[in-house]
Amino acid sequence: MRTKIVAGNWKMNNDKKESKQLIKDLKKSIKAEKLENTRVIVAPTFVNLSSSIKAAKNSKIEVVAQNMHQAKNGAYTGEISANMLKAIGIKTVILGHSERRTYFNETDKGLAEKVDAVLENELETIFCFGELLEDRKSDHHFTVVKDQIANALFHLDKVAWKSIILAYEPVWAIGTGETASAEQAQEMHAFIRSIIEKKYNKEVADEVSILYGGSVKPANAEEIFSKPDVDGGLIGGAALNVADFTGIIKAI
Ligand code: PGA
Repeated sequence: MRTKIVAGNWKMNNDKKESKQLIKDLKKSIKAEKLENTRVIVAPTFVNLSSSIKAAKNSKIEVVAQNMHQAKNGAYTGEISANMLKAIGIKTVILGHSERRTYFNETDKGLAEKVDAVLENELETIFCFGELLEDRKSDHHFTVVKDQIANALFHLDKVAWKSIILAYEPVWAIGTGETASAEQAQEMHAFIRSIIEKKYNKEVADEVSILYGGSVKPANAEEIFSKPDVDGGLIGGAALNVADFTGIIKAI
């Protein structure tokens, strides 16, 4: 059975005190939830990872990183490597978020290298991708998504896919209040699973969790999560509010 996942990407929000408080509040609010076969993830900023890990101790909440550099070490001012994250207890790293692609010029090639560094360090990645509005309007969304996945992930062997979580995030739905409809999400997720099956096999395709991201809120989460190929969500804005995030967790 595929694992269900609700992951909160905090982006550049929450200082140390706010991060600890949000985790503390979340711990309390999800205590009564059963959450079988469901992972709850939060991604604070780099400087708050250690204190957040401490705050999340003895709970369901997993703390993950939002990004990393592909090199082990060296002259890369301002960057952080996979082994550094691993050394403080991080097990999972988000890669390829559209904000990284847009504002920091991340490319498929660079992302393929980052994925390799994740795997070399026996970490796991939540790998993000998704089309722009113009791609969808010109009916290129399937090709764009296929290329993003193929370019960064199709050099991997089958075993490596155990460490991959996919997050489909149509760029036009991120932070805009506009979500893909549940049908649009399902259509794309089924397509993604079909290309993975074609490249690898049915087992790999059936096992990989595919999250949807883009303006998921408590009000629309249940419908989106009810679709057979949607295994959870990558949540931005709504993950900053404990009631909203809990509502989304309950929806799964
Ligand atoms: P949003 O962000 O939920 O605020 O749209 C999603 C994301 O960027 O992962």
